Amino acid sequence: MYYGGDYNPEQWPEEVWKEDVRLMGEAGVTIVSLGIFAWSRIQEDEGVFDWEWLDRVINLLHENGIQVNMGTATASPPPWATTKYPEMLPQDADGAKYGPGSRQHYAPTSPVYRRLAADLVRELAARYAHHPAVVMWHVNNEYACHLNYDYSDNARDAFRMWLKRKYGTIHALNEAWGTAFWSQIYTSFDQVLPPRKAPYSLNPGGALDFKRFTSDAVLELYVMERDIIRAAGATQPISTNFMGAFYALDYWRWAEEIDIITNDNYPDPNDPQSFRSSAFTLDLMRSLKPGVPWLIMEQSTGALNWRPSNAPKAPGQMEALSAQAIGHGADGILFFQWRQSRRGSEKFHSAMLPQAGTQTRTWREVTKLGGTLKDFPQMAPESHAKVAVVFDWENWWALTHSDHPIQLDYCRLVQRWYAALQAQHVSIDIVKPTGDLSAYSLVVAPQLYLLSDAGAENLSSFVRGGGHLLVSAFTDVVDQDDALREGGYQVGLREVLGVTVEDFGALIAPSSGGGLWSVGDSVAGGSGTGPGQSHASVAGPFGSIRGEHFCEEVRVLGADILGTFTDGRLKGAPALTQQAYGTGRGTYLATIPDDAGMQHVTAWSLAEAGVQPELSGISPWVEVARRGDVLTVINHGSEPEGVPVKGHDVLSGEPVNGVELGPFDWRMVRVTE
Ligand code: GLA
Repeated sequence: MYYGGDYNPEQWPEEVWKEDVRLMGEAGVTIVSLGIFAWSRIQEDEGVFDWEWLDRVINLLHENGIQVNMGTATASPPPWATTKYPEMLPQDADGAKYGPGSRQHYAPTSPVYRRLAADLVRELAARYAHHPAVVMWHVNNEYACHLNYDYSDNARDAFRMWLKRKYGTIHALNEAWGTAFWSQIYTSFDQVLPPRKAPYSLNPGGALDFKRFTSDAVLELYVMERDIIRAAGATQPISTNFMGAFYALDYWRWAEEIDIITNDNYPDPNDPQSFRSSAFTLDLMRSLKPGVPWLIMEQSTGALNWRPSNAPKAPGQMEALSAQAIGHGADGILFFQWRQSRRGSEKFHSAMLPQAGTQTRTWREVTKLGGTLKDFPQMAPESHAKVAVVFDWENWWALTHSDHPIQLDYCRLVQRWYAALQAQHVSIDIVKPTGDLSAYSLVVAPQLYLLSDAGAENLSSFVRGGGHLLVSAFTDVVDQDDALREGGYQVGLREVLGVTVEDFGALIAPSSGGGLWSVGDSVAGGSGTGPGQSHASVAGPFGSIRGEHFCEEVRVLGADILGTFTDGRLKGAPALTQQAYGTGRGTYLATIPDDAGMQHVTAWSLAEAGVQPELSGISPWVEVARRGDVLTVINHGSEPEGVPVKGHDVLSGEPVNGVELGPFDWRMVRVTE
């Protein structure tokens, strides 16, 4: 179990380093991430490197038994670089250049940036590839975090090359993007631009490809650095830190290139439900590389600096969230950062060693956790989940485009479906549409608007082989080009679902209120039958629920009708259908339930698919996470909770026959012997 954090000794005089390693020993630190933002300290001009200070730091750490996760320092180019080569700066969609003076101020496709980064990493890797302290490599930092998209001429040129590789001919691009619409037919790749500012909405196919291109272009940077490190003879695992469900990068694709997944996790302590989105992130990280343990590369000991309001973690909450990560498969807990900065933008960000010193709750909690993680037993990373939730970046990108029947926040919807399942204490994996589904009894595919042919075939074969597939409104609408398919809607899953949607039927968006002036329940409450309807009630085998966003007009082709709309313009029409297909079942829900409705629908689906909770009869504030044969139970609520878990305590080995958990208490219990 790794324990430690980002270490930025370049911010401190050398005398402080000795105190650092002494206190690291006291805290039980085993590893630090070094040099992540040290480019300007390492290299003062092109070709001029100063490694000696870094040698001294690494040797000092090594002598004190602290391992190094070696940062490649490429996330923040030094002032000399951007002064000499301003063409490496990125540009926004309006054409404005981003300036230096912060971090991540480089165009990922800039040949100059790539050359300078490669030069640095080549020197760094040659120097430290065989250093005994270095056990891991940390490439760059949170790729694309601040600069999601670059629209500069560098990006323009690289985008054109990417498109040439993808389409071969400009004719094929025109076909895929449907450029006959609005007179957009290109006669050469040299006419294609990134989706810069335009008078009205841009071509959706082009916008989608630009997102695919950006994820690929940034990944090229990672691969470039990784290959340089390997070429220097390094044998340690190489990684870069992910940011959970991060919009701009398709982590399914990235995970293929990364040795071990590392993630930065910053749930908001002000939000009592944020442990659920945290659980989603942790399950996503585990699922990105099944069977391979992963690390929390960054979390905070307390308050952050970058939200408008930055609450500290409550007593015990940092430890509970660390246990949560381990319970979901993490093999290490690291923080941003070791010692709180005195200057710069992050001086109010909490750290392992706070500005207020060692006579603090933070330090006590940090040293306590270090003690707990020492000699932690090995645990298999698998969850043995029987339930999977589909999450797909390409769909997210396509759904974000304007000009849809209704705007949906895909990531939030997926997390709400996940939370409904998670509150029922089942283990959940996250899968991509083309992922291996053979282990699951129930797959939930929320709002999978863009479904590729391969994804549709994969989900179909899951059902054919006995799986239960639950899909809800606005799913299987367009193909991989964001184009409607021949033959109406739900073409890809039609055989499985036995339905097609005739019309989508947007409802007033939940957050948009009733319009210019409030007209109360008669409109906003949805009792009208016309377009002024904000929700649609559904009666089904799960009782009565309330649907939002859509009430779709469904034509049943072969499915059974299990539920109907009970009010509004579709009163009496099918709302829930199910079809037997192969040895499984395909279920379609023609609306998107509110939170309570999601609980009812998923409870019914779990029962239909025969999925048992890990533990029954416990509060939704208690989380249960399975890892191999270990159940981690955590009380995220404010009241004491009894949990009927039986087995042996992972840390003490003592038998466990039910536990009482106060707020933020947790236990890890091996449930089989
Ligand atoms: C990110 C970065 C760190 C630091 C933290 C602060 O995760 O990787 O360098 O800025 O945020 O929360």
